[in-house]
Amino acid sequence: MNEFKKVVFSGVQPTGNLHLGNYLGAIRKFVALQEGNDCIYCVVDMHALTAQLVHEDMPNQIRSIAAAFIASGIDPEKHIVFNQSAVPQHAELAWIFNCVARIGWMNRMTQFKDKAGKDREQASLGLYAYPSLMAADILVYRGTHVPVGDDQKQHLELARDIAMKFNLDYAEHIRKTDYGIDITVGNEPVHAYFPMVEPLIDGPAPRVMSLRDGTKKMSKSDPSDLSRINLMDDEEAISKKIRKAKTDPDGLPSEVDGLKGRPEADNLVGIYAALADRSKADVLAEFGGQQFSVFKPALVDLAVNVLSPITAEMRRLMSDTSHIDATLRNGSERARARAEVTMKQVRDIVGFLY
Ligand code: TRP
Repeated sequence: MNEFKKVVFSGVQPTGNLHLGNYLGAIRKFVALQEGNDCIYCVVDMHALTAQLVHEDMPNQIRSIAAAFIASGIDPEKHIVFNQSAVPQHAELAWIFNCVARIGWMNRMTQFKDKAGKDREQASLGLYAYPSLMAADILVYRGTHVPVGDDQKQHLELARDIAMKFNLDYAEHIRKTDYGIDITVGNEPVHAYFPMVEPLIDGPAPRVMSLRDGTKKMSKSDPSDLSRINLMDDEEAISKKIRKAKTDPDGLPSEVDGLKGRPEADNLVGIYAALADRSKADVLAEFGGQQFSVFKPALVDLAVNVLSPITAEMRRLMSDTSHIDATLRNGSERARARAEVTMKQVRDIVGFLY
């Protein structure tokens, strides 16, 4: 029996600027998970083609996600940072998964329905198959733990369904090899090849909302740049955006309950708490009863303190692309070697000759 090993995998698309929501919701979790885990963090450039086929500045978009990972504290030597397209095994496994997944499963994906819009006939086949590639991203490393936002939960359930069907369909073949692992599904012990993927959704990450509308998520596609703090914003921009952030006329409550029905106040307190690594209750114990004219400058100081070293490091990394490119190349080589171990076994299980 092979030992069940924990492997953390996650991916970020190189589309548009990264913002505070991406940092607090995803990248900071990636950083924290490094301790004691084997982590693989991927710039999913192949997924980016499903949103838009032609990208003005794809190479720099890829570099800037990698730079954000590294500037935020991900160690690309202890762990792996790379771009998806440099490891063709992802696409190879995705093809097999396309044959495992059922059309009925894909038809239930809410993100496809949202992104395809009304004219589904005009959506690309890539957008439809997106979750199958995502399953391959994780499982080509036999990944077990995936930090993501809750919008990706359904895709991870699909990854489990795909893994389970592969394990069942090829059970006889897997048993003839020594690559199998013993896992439990529900309470049943199962001899399997692919592990069951666990989403890591909770944790300290808040839902960071738009600075212009506390009921909408902070988003790179919001037409108003004032709605988000980009990781590449300078101090002046951060300060301006927080000062202009929408609020209501009341002061801050002393308790978390008092934030109910006040989405903008809730969002700013949540951002403060997340940046300071404190609870909202703790922040309100300090600022309760104060006006936003006092709270906002404190938030500006905090945001600048936390973000400006990251921004400065990102700019430094982006100023010499040869360094970031070498880092990505090195990460891709190590990722490829690991993915190839899996694919040799998968080709064998499926019965391909090589
Ligand atoms: N779909 C993810 C998103 O948009 C990105 C992604 C692609 C991903 N492949 C992945 C996330 C594998 C986790 C694991 O956020």
